[in-house]
Amino acid sequence: MSKSISGFSKLSKRGKLRWIVENFFKDPENVMRELTSYWLLNEEQQKVLDGFSENTISNFYLPFGVAPNFVINDKTYAVPMVIEESSVVAAASAAAKFWMTRGGFKAKVISTKKVGQVHFCWTGDFKKLESVFEILKARLISDAAEITKNMEARGGGILDIQLINYTEVEPNYYQLKANFETCDSMGANFINSVLESFGKSLQSFVATNDLFTDEEKDVSIIMAILSNYTPECIVRAWVECPIEDLGNFSNGIDANTFAKKFYTAVRIAHIDQYRATTHNKGIFNGIDAVVLATGNDFRAIESCGHTYAARDGNYRSLSHCRIDNGVFKFWLDIPLAVGTVGGLTKLHPIARRSLELLGSPNAEELMMIIATTGLAQNFAALRSLVTTGIQKGHMKMHLINILNHMEATTKEKELAEVHFEKEVISFNAVRAFLDSLRTKKGSGATRLLNR
Ligand code: HMG
Repeated sequence: MSKSISGFSKLSKRGKLRWIVENFFKDPENVMRELTSYWLLNEEQQKVLDGFSENTISNFYLPFGVAPNFVINDKTYAVPMVIEESSVVAAASAAAKFWMTRGGFKAKVISTKKVGQVHFCWTGDFKKLESVFEILKARLISDAAEITKNMEARGGGILDIQLINYTEVEPNYYQLKANFETCDSMGANFINSVLESFGKSLQSFVATNDLFTDEEKDVSIIMAILSNYTPECIVRAWVECPIEDLGNFSNGIDANTFAKKFYTAVRIAHIDQYRATTHNKGIFNGIDAVVLATGNDFRAIESCGHTYAARDGNYRSLSHCRIDNGVFKFWLDIPLAVGTVGGLTKLHPIARRSLELLGSPNAEELMMIIATTGLAQNFAALRSLVTTGIQKGHMKMHLINILNHMEATTKEKELAEVHFEKEVISFNAVRAFLDSLRTKKGSGATRLLNR
């Protein structure tokens, strides 16, 4: 049987699924039944989902959770989170609850510039192009006016354009690099349309300008595309309180010891790349979950955040900690190019509800909420790491996954939850517990259930 196909995209959804199950699965009828069982019953709703992507054969569900008690700039939010990993929502909620009684989180947007580039090759005299760049710039802006007029009416548009000469590193390679303000939208479509217009205008400007010889008239546009690196679209989120207000922690750890260990943990993530990567992963546990829940582009946010974390040439922690005159301060600076209009934000029914749950924020408010959730997540993970160790809380939340993996019955799950309230959870410990239940064939189980 052939595993390749021409015209797959033209098949109906059922036809695509049929072809897939018949060619890639041992029990096609079962898989067909299972994957269709995840189709939405409401056909209109299903069509909306199918429209987001291509070649859809089913839906891939992820949990939609909520972390309540987030006090940010004195306003209380219940933060929507879409994530598949256990303990993340619990950790964000726990950190929100912790800081709620210590002044809450603070956040501010530092800058909101987005970036786009036209990459081009040209064999002409750079000095000539440079000498007419101001005229060219005015032309680029006026040629794009039809595209920018609505954004300008909202207070955004093109902020500036630079001409960059890269010929020292790559023969004949130049760039138009532009900054944009895109207000409440992430701005990808707007920026890309403007950049494509810039490319055409640049070509026609050079081709029709007498300054350039016939040999110089041809500009080859390599590509015109926004950059997901937005180091000037930055939000800061922070918490601070006198050390003694931190209170006492598990394992008899007092506030002072906690603050010092916490500070050192953050320092290590500034020094060591292996630790920095895991540390930042913890931050993105929170960030990605809100970005996804609000229908924003988590790949763009991730790639930008990691580039920013490596901006001085070494990959480092995105968060910082300081202890000054007995005050503990923990903060996060992160680029977040997100939108509250456009893209999936209104199209995805749950993303729409997420934004409503947050009180229909504008893009800047959403930046602050997302950064705060990242900071909260980081705080919770570090608090566990420097006190109890991560496994205690993480495994507590993960128990149900282990039980599902071992195909535990409802009764076995109930017994396991009681048993592991006081026992250390591990894969082996859960297996041993289930084995013991199964060999006892219920007698011990009944006793346990009746406790
Ligand atoms: P706990 O102290 O056992 O929690 O912590 P608790 O039972 O005392 O409850 C306190 C609050 O925590 C609750 O308040 C909830 O807000 C929340 P309440 O609702 O009762 O008023 N909470 C929950 N929320 C929802 N569902 C639950 C739940 N349980 C508690 N079932 C906790 C337990 C997991 C919160 C804590 O151990 C913790 O914060 N652990 C950190 C977990 C974590 O970071 N997980 C991420 C995955 S690990 C990872 O990928 C990142 C990492 O590698 C990053 C790094 O290395 O930096 C760690």
